[in-house]
Amino acid sequence: MNNIEDVLQWADSLIFDKTGKPLTPIQEAILTGVLQQQKYPQIAQTFKCSESHVKKEGSKLWEKLREELGEDLNKLNFRSKLEKKHSVSQLSQLGHCLLQVDNVNIGGQFIQTIKDPQTRSHSPAESPQNQERSPIIDLTDAPELLSFYDRISELSTLKQWILQARTRLITIYGLSGIGKSAIALKLIEEIQTEFDYIIWRSLSNTPTLSTLQIELKQFFSRSQQTPLPTVIDYFRASRCLVILDDVQNIFTSGQLAGQYLAGYEDYGKFFKQLANLSHHHSCLILVSWEKSREIATLEAENRPARTLHLKGLGEQTGEILREKGLIDEEKWTELITIYQSHPCWLNIIATTIIELFNGSVSRFLAEGNDIFLGDLEPLLEYHLERLSESEKQVSYGLASQAEAVDISQQPADNALSKSESWKAIQSLARRGLVEKVQVGARSHFHLNPVFKAYIQSKFNPLKTK
Ligand SMILES: Nc1ncnc2c1ncn2[C@@H]1O[C@H](COP(=O)(O)OP(=O)(O)O)[C@@H](O)[C@H]1O
Ligand SMILES: [Mg+2]
Repeated sequence: MNNIEDVLQWADSLIFDKTGKPLTPIQEAILTGVLQQQKYPQIAQTFKCSESHVKKEGSKLWEKLREELGEDLNKLNFRSKLEKKHSVSQLSQLGHCLLQVDNVNIGGQFIQTIKDPQTRSHSPAESPQNQERSPIIDLTDAPELLSFYDRISELSTLKQWILQARTRLITIYGLSGIGKSAIALKLIEEIQTEFDYIIWRSLSNTPTLSTLQIELKQFFSRSQQTPLPTVIDYFRASRCLVILDDVQNIFTSGQLAGQYLAGYEDYGKFFKQLANLSHHHSCLILVSWEKSREIATLEAENRPARTLHLKGLGEQTGEILREKGLIDEEKWTELITIYQSHPCWLNIIATTIIELFNGSVSRFLAEGNDIFLGDLEPLLEYHLERLSESEKQVSYGLASQAEAVDISQQPADNALSKSESWKAIQSLARRGLVEKVQVGARSHFHLNPVFKAYIQSKFNPLKTK
């Protein structure tokens, strides 16, 4: 038994003998995942199903293999039991093969398959470019995509940028929980066949650029006979799609939006280099709470870089409330408008409505005129904490106004210069906290209403419900 395919074949014939049925795709995914020392949540993510489904199918699978591998067989000891059963030397080869992971799409779901490295490297026909419709995918760092509604126009914009306009650098920015990671995952599902490699990396642990580049190169080099020297070389040689999530973690707190942490400035150069690189079909997607200044500048220079400001969901937002089991459907639009069609905020508020009002949206809304924040407060505090002093001052100023404010109107008590307050407003807009509205020929600015309510409640805590 010298690779995972052999293990799968072995398990398949064993189970076929016992039940008359072959291994199911989920059983194959479980075996493959467990052999690669993946945990059930990771396998569920790869297979795009719930963790409880993997658990259920997993226990059925171990039950069927117990006769062969021992009564105490489970996911943790499967590998060692298999090792005991078959020769160690054969299985050490298996360990080597575990690195050669391919993803194929079976019935719309990702399944990982393993190829023998010898066969792969000696067969040019096996190179990813020649394997139409089976990109090599690593989504181990990505969150799980549960229910997904709407985003039709945003998805078509992103697809147009990537597939037609050949945009090389895309930033998806917006408030936390607005659905940035979700839309990026959905996008992958829809355009995966256009790429040879797809990799998702989260910057939540603030890896340095060189650490990230090493990881990317390791991933790209898995199926290449001769490793290439730089990430840029892979971007030129193959069609690579790289998604960097939680990019705000490499930006500083307490300063204007999108300024790199000390020691992370080289990321900015790297992004710029990728955007300016010609003759390639790869794409880098940055997912962030903030839009960086370089990206704004690259866009302004008409470089192949684009930014999508992700806002609330569209018409299907009510599905989130339906899924939660709320009642009084005639009042849902009001609730959705108050919470800006923000999926995460609505999920949280729906839980409160269930806990306090047995799911009755009418009774919740009848309780007062202020926006109820409850469990949203810590989320809003993260956003407030990240602001610079000038942004905080401008936010407090905007929070005290009932209407959107003309940028040329300086409040009397504003200690900021005109240039400082303009920069602060621009920066708040790059965080999605301030929005522009047209009033006649003039631009007026207002704070996100929920964020505004939070600032007001901080100023006057007794007023909170
Ligand atoms: N299009 C959508 N339809 C339904 N739920 C969504 C959608 N987008 C996001 N959500 C839900 O909102 C929550 C936050 O989404 P996520 O993508 O993690 O936000 P972000 O990456 O912007 O912080 C998740 O629980 C997700 O399931
Ligand atoms: Mg996210």
